[in-house]
Order: sequence, then structure tokens, then C-alpha cells
Amino acid sequence: MAIYLDHAATTPLLPEVLAAYTEALQVVGNPSSIHSQGQAANRMLEEARERIAAAVGCDPIEVVLTSGGTEAVNTAVKGIFWARAASGARRILFPGGEHHATLDTVTWLASSADAELVELPVTVDARLDPAVLAAALHERDAALVTTLWANNEVGTIQDVPALAAVARAAGVPVHADAVAAFGSVPVDFRSSGLAAMSVSAHKVGGPVGVGALVLGRTTASQALVHGGGQQRGIRSGTQDVAGAVAFGVAAELAVARLAENATRLAGLRDRLVAGVLGRIPSSTLRGASPGAGRLPGNAHFTFEGCDGDSLLFLLDRAGIAVSTGSACQAGVAEISHVLLAMGLPEETARGALRFTLGSSTTDSDIATLLEVLPEVVARARRAGHSDRVPALY
Ligand SMILES: Cc1ncc(COP(=O)(O)O)c(C=O)c1O
Repeated sequence: MAIYLDHAATTPLLPEVLAAYTEALQVVGNPSSIHSQGQAANRMLEEARERIAAAVGCDPIEVVLTSGGTEAVNTAVKGIFWARAASGARRILFPGGEHHATLDTVTWLASSADAELVELPVTVDARLDPAVLAAALHERDAALVTTLWANNEVGTIQDVPALAAVARAAGVPVHADAVAAFGSVPVDFRSSGLAAMSVSAHKVGGPVGVGALVLGRTTASQALVHGGGQQRGIRSGTQDVAGAVAFGVAAELAVARLAENATRLAGLRDRLVAGVLGRIPSSTLRGASPGAGRLPGNAHFTFEGCDGDSLLFLLDRAGIAVSTGSACQAGVAEISHVLLAMGLPEETARGALRFTLGSSTTDSDIATLLEVLPEVVARARRAGHSDRVPALY
């Protein structure tokens, strides 16, 4: 049976979510309509918004539903930048190794709206030191800071409240991409000090195509999508009631099960890490050490002398789905910009492989992986860094 160890890419829909989703999909009514069906749809929508708000620790009015994490990040970063740029602030500060949703957005703002990009150095385990941020903020024209809450590739968790405190002291709003963190570690918008935060349903057992931007009541922002003025005018468009209902259920369950899941997944992850490091020479765990600074379900390694995509293909043929962690452009694997930002040489970064565990992961999945992986790495090493994918058998 296939083994799925790519939960950071997307997670299986939870049965409770599927039931609520399919039931809600059968309800007819635009939540903005005045008639009874519209009002009923609106009640479902607002109850879902309350559930999402309770799960992320904000007020329901602060939840702007979107088509996913990418749209939430775009809305936050562009919207806050445009609002702040009106008074002359142009610098966008972000740590190295951000997700492409952020990187491509800030790059676009640099080319289209004269944003000045300040990429902050991170430690070898991908952490942004609040002192580095503080030093970079002493110049006056910072428009915003944006950071991952947890790195989707190497699993490192940032000290978001400390970063937000530093930026607040300088009067600069902070957005956090909490897509990888939410549901895996405690995330509380209210106490974080953030101005905005992005989350996505399909990373926590909800459907693809649903997400939310948590936009603080007092955060000045401009709209990305104009139209009917829904959701504080920040995100116009008929609202996806069923998607919101499904996200509400998924978010609530993710938080209710967080402690139990985190303990279980950290146990499996620790077994995986010990097994890989013990069996495979020249393998190195990347990112923060297992513990409070790392996502419980993330194990990321580099294997000297082989290509991550060869490893991925070989494991896929053996029925195990994993990821190199980095993006793929037109079918060609990119060298991870996250690992490069952490200071790894290109040659080492090529041999990256990410295992991410989740609700469906079992003991026997890890045992099978540990059985298969040494031979897979040996074969990939024999092939070396080449475009050729080695045959498994
Ligand atoms: C950290 C992070 N941010 C943003 C996204 C984009 O979210 P979505 O797939 O919902 O657009 C992802 C998804 O891979 C992610 O891991």
C-alpha cells in the first residue's frame, strides 16, 4: 500500500470535514441575499467564521476568507504595503528562505511599486534572530515585516511574538505566513502581536482552495480584489459557504487534537530521524533540532553525493511519497533557496529530501521507509548528481 509522507504539501481530508463539506455544498443561497435562504447561508458562514476565529485566536470580523494561503499572503503583503507606501514607507523586510507566495509577491512589488526589499540573514537552522530584525528596523522607512511562522521545508519555528514585539516597538506591522505552523503548533493571533496572519485549510485536513487572512482590526490595508465589497471590502466576491464550513470543522479539530497529534508525530519523527542518521552515512538533519523549535511532523535531510529528485523518484517507485521540499519549475527541480539562505553549498543542497508526517502516518510507515531508504540512497549515490534517474531494480 502507498505510504504518504508529504503532509506539508497537502493533508488528507478528515472524514468529519468531508461530511460537513458535502452537506453544506447542498445548501442553496448567497449569504449576501436578503431572502430566507440567503440568511440561512449567511448564518452557516458566520458560524464557520466564528469557529475559524476561535481556532486561530482572533475576532470573527478579523477573518477574511480567501481561496487559500497564497491569496491570503498576497492580500496581506500587497495590501499592507500599498497602505503604508502612501505615507512613503517602501522597505519590506523578510528573512531568507520564505515561501514563494511571499518571495514572488515582494519581488513583484519591487518591480511594479518601487518596494525596496531587505532580505534578513537567518541562522544555519533557518531562524531569524530578533536582534537582526531590530538592527534592520532602525532605518525609518520600513513598510512591513513578513515572515513564515514555521518554515514549510525544514520545519524551523520562528519566535513570532519576539519578532512582532521588536517591529511593534518601531511602529512597523508584521505579517506571518502561518500556513505550515497552524494545526501543528499553538498559534494565537491575539497574543502574537501580529498585524496580519495567513492560514490555509488543506494543510489541516480541510479542502484545497480555502484559506483565511487574519487581518487585525486596526491594520491599515488596501484591497487586492474589488467588487461587491464583501469582507470589509478587503476581499470582494460571493463567499464560499461550504468551504468556510469545512475549514471551520478542520480548524476546530486541528486545535482540539493538536497536543495529542504533536506528541504522536514527534515520537514517529524522532524514530525516523534516529533511524536515518543511524543507518545512512553522510546524512544530515537540516533545520532546528527536534524539540520546541521544530514542527513535530517534519524531518528534513541532506544526503551527500546524490540528487534529491533521484531519491524522490526511487522512493515513489517503492510506493513512498515524499518531497525534496523545494519548488519544481517546468518539471525541473530547483535547488532549495531555503537551504541556500541557511548557508549550505549548492552541492549539498541538491541532496535534500523532506518527510512530513500527519494524521494518516503509522509506525509501520516509518519502519518501511527505514527498510527501503538505505538502498535507495546507495543507488542514488551511485548515479551521483546527474539528470538520469537511476533504475530501482
Ligand atoms: C508556508 C506556506 N505558505 C503558503 C502556502 C500556499 O498555500 P495554498 O496552497 O493554500 O495556496 C503553502 C503551501 O504549500 C505553504 O507551505
